[in-house]
Amino acid sequence: TKIYIPRDAAALALGADKVAKAMEDAIAGRGLDVTIVRNGSRGLHWLEPLIEVETPGGRVAYGPVKARDVASLIDAGLVEGGSHALCLGKTEDIPFLKQQTRLTFARCGVIDPVSLDDYRAHGGLRGLENAIAMEPMAIVTQVTESGLRGRGGAGFPTGIKWKTVLEAAGERKYIVCNADEGDSGTFADRMIMEGDPFVLIEGMAIAGLATGATKGFIYTRSEYPHAIATMAQAIEIARRAGVLGPSVLGSGRAFDMEVRTGAGAYVCGEETALLNSLEGKRGIVRAKPPLPAHKGLFDCPTVINNVISLASVPVIMDKGAAFYRDFGMGRSRGTIPIQIAGNVKHSGLFETAFGLALGEIIDHIGGGTASGRPVKAVQVGGPLGAYFPRALFDTPFDYEAFAARDGLIGHAGIVVFDDTADMLKQARFAMEFCAIESCGKCTPCRIGSTRGVEVADKIAAGIEPESNRELLADLCNTMKFGSLCALGGFTPYPVVSAMTHFPDDFQPAPLVEAAE
Ligand code: NAI
Ligand code: SF4
Repeated sequence: TKIYIPRDAAALALGADKVAKAMEDAIAGRGLDVTIVRNGSRGLHWLEPLIEVETPGGRVAYGPVKARDVASLIDAGLVEGGSHALCLGKTEDIPFLKQQTRLTFARCGVIDPVSLDDYRAHGGLRGLENAIAMEPMAIVTQVTESGLRGRGGAGFPTGIKWKTVLEAAGERKYIVCNADEGDSGTFADRMIMEGDPFVLIEGMAIAGLATGATKGFIYTRSEYPHAIATMAQAIEIARRAGVLGPSVLGSGRAFDMEVRTGAGAYVCGEETALLNSLEGKRGIVRAKPPLPAHKGLFDCPTVINNVISLASVPVIMDKGAAFYRDFGMGRSRGTIPIQIAGNVKHSGLFETAFGLALGEIIDHIGGGTASGRPVKAVQVGGPLGAYFPRALFDTPFDYEAFAARDGLIGHAGIVVFDDTADMLKQARFAMEFCAIESCGKCTPCRIGSTRGVEVADKIAAGIEPESNRELLADLCNTMKFGSLCALGGFTPYPVVSAMTHFPDDFQPAPLVEAAE
């Protein structure tokens, strides 16, 4: 019998290692014929550590499990999938999982992340094998036709980016994976790297074959030690098995890769700052043009894609462009791993086709707030995303639909707030965040964010609130149109949306004048 206990950072933070130790001891003590597999996470965070037992009828889940529950679980017949207060039934039947369409995350939490055999047994490497038999332009065309757009947040068509690099002249070309997942409340990149690292390796190798790049780098942050270790281990395994190296799967075409770790500056997730950091320089934004596709890492043509974009390529190359494109709505094709966090009952990763309404995600899938109080606002797209009130909950999860309502889906993180949230404080936080994380290259962001904090403080103190509200709006306008990159340019989204949708929070009681 196999018992699965996750090794994902979220599960570890909730005691998965202690559960595994208790399980090992119990198995040894009772002489049970059980193998423990340390898998990735299924992404049902409120149930972590979620352990599973393989039974003839499928996997049965238990959670959230503490080390002290292990003895009673075994007494209740855990090894046969027996019933227990913590039993959640068949894993695949848990509604949060059952309602998903898992293409990119199909194997995450299912397989042993560092077993290439397990990866192959679950459909792995078929996309790469197909790509090897194709001309580079045919691979690029297939990715373009799938409709895949950059999952890091900007939504730029992946196939067009690859085409630019394929057609760029250069003796050396690179594939850089942006794994510097900096948005608060997001964890999709981390979950892939910890739960299914081979899918990212496969996606990067396909990108290499498609563009003529022979070297790849995964740039991630030191805050992700488990992802770094798992990726490094998987790369080594792939190299030994001939998936990476001078002849990818015996094709005669070379591709190899390595993991590089940054210190965790938010701006190093911006692609040109990332390139500087990767080159060993200070993580400061470069002006575009030139695009990295023309002149990127060490001035060579470079594909920079987010983890999820690259990890979505193997299924496209395996099942075809039409299969992937059939999911979604409008110009948003395929699936998106939505990350539900904050004050929410059911937090975790929900992969689904584009088009689901925001309210459906919050109220039904997320189950409303954890505090049980009414939802006041949700921030979609990380710390630079807009706050949406309930009135906008009919917005479908789609790049264009969010843009039409002055928001963005970004890296698809959603953070939920209940009615105790003070949106003026949240607006101030956005400015403060920008001030702390600004690379300092351009004035609207470097100076504007600090002035923004001061103006928010004046509004909160009731000092000339009307003119200071106007000043804050004006400042946002300057930052939006005058900043060099998305950090300064997008900070106005949370600020302006908070002002627009929650004007009452920007009307503090006039204290000083009234007393006089
Ligand atoms: P962008 O719109 O400037 O560029 C998007 C991508 O397309 C870039 O890689 C760019 O080099 C490429 N590109 C543009 N034109 C091209 C062409 N003709 N040929 C080839 N490539 C081309 O957006 P940017 O500044 O790269 O990203 C902003 C986004 O980042 C925001 O929407 C935000 O949601 C997201 N973001 C994500 C974070 C995360 O943790 N994942 C953190 C912060 C922001
Ligand atoms: Fe640097 Fe901010 Fe300007 Fe971006 S907007 S280049 S982070 S100063």
